[in-house]
Amino acid sequence: MRDQAYKLRALMAETTAPFEGNGRVIAVTSGKGGVGKTNVSVGLALSAARSGVSTVLIDGDLGLANIDVLLDLHSGKNLGHLVEGEAKLHEILISGPEGIRVLPGASGLTQVADLSHSRQQRLFDAMGELVREHDLVIIDTGAGISRSVIDLCQAAGEVLVVTTPEPTAVVDAYAMLKVFSCETRTPKCWLTVNQAQSRGEAQQVSSRIKALAKKFLSLDLEDGGAVLFDPRVSASVRKRQHFSRAYPSSPASRSLRELAERLGIQKQRRSRGGFLNRLKEVFVGDMGGARERSF
Ligand SMILES: Nc1ncnc2c1ncn2[C@@H]1O[C@H](COP(=O)(O)OP(=O)(O)OP(=O)(O)O)[C@@H](O)[C@H]1O
Ligand SMILES: [Mg+2]
Repeated sequence: MRDQAYKLRALMAETTAPFEGNGRVIAVTSGKGGVGKTNVSVGLALSAARSGVSTVLIDGDLGLANIDVLLDLHSGKNLGHLVEGEAKLHEILISGPEGIRVLPGASGLTQVADLSHSRQQRLFDAMGELVREHDLVIIDTGAGISRSVIDLCQAAGEVLVVTTPEPTAVVDAYAMLKVFSCETRTPKCWLTVNQAQSRGEAQQVSSRIKALAKKFLSLDLEDGGAVLFDPRVSASVRKRQHFSRAYPSSPASRSLRELAERLGIQKQRRSRGGFLNRLKEVFVGDMGGARERSF
C-alpha cells in the first residue's frame, strides 16, 4: 500500500497539465449501495445539460459500472480499455441524451491505488482532459467506502452524499462523512435524502445527520434537500430511460430539479484551479497518517 502511494505521488508530481479553466467536479457517493447514486448522478447531469452547461458524466464505479445500461447506451469500449491502453479517450466517450457525454465505467477493475504506474497515468490524463473541456463533471462512484472512492471524492472537491431514510443507509452515510472528516483535505459535502416519502421525512433525516456531523465531526453539511420516492423511477429504469425524461412532471423529477437548483449546476461555468490541482494535492501533497489507512 505504501509503495503504491509513493508511486502515485511520483506520477502526479510529473503532471504538467495547465491547471486553469477547469470545470466544477462533483462526486456522488453514499456509503451503502443501492440508495440511488446512479439515478441521481444521471439526473443531475441531464438537468445541467438541459440548461446549456457542457456536462460529462463519469461512471466511476470501477467494479460494477452501469450508467450505459441505465441510459440504453451502447459502448464498445470503456474505462477498462482506456486504462489498459487499448483505447483512446475519444474512442470510449459516448453521447447521451440532452447532449451529455458519458465515460462508461469498467467492470472488475481493481482499486486505483493498485493499478500500475502507466495505467494510473492513463486514467488521470483522461480525467484531466475531461475536466478541462467541460463546465461540469459528475462522477458516479461505486458503493462502499474504498480508497478509490475516497480519493475520487477528495479530488472532486465537492461531494454529494446520498442516503435514503432507512437507518442502515443513514449509518453508512455518516460513516462516509466520518472518513472525509478524518482526511487531510475534506471535500465540501452536500447531503440529499433520496426515496423520501415526503419532504418532511427527508428534512427530519437530514437535520439529524447534519447535527451529528456538526457535533462529532465538526463538519458543516450543505443541504441538498430531497428526491422523493416515486415508483416511476423504477419503471423508467426498466424502460432504460431516465425518469426526468420519461416522467418530467413526476414528484421525483420535480424534486430532482430542486436539488440541481440547490447545487447551482444549471448556471455552471468554468472556474479557475480545481480538480487537477486537487488531484495533485491528494496524491502528491502530505498524505499524513490518514492516507495510509486501508478501508
Ligand atoms: N427516488 C426514487 N424512487 C423510487 N425508487 C428509486 C429512487 N431512486 C432510486 N430508486 C430505485 O433504487 C434502485 C437503485 O438505484 P441506483 O442504481 O441509482 O442506486 P446506486 O446507489 O447507484 O446503486 P449501486 O450502489 O449499486 O451503484 C433503482 O433501480 C431504482 O429503482
Ligand atoms: Mg450505481
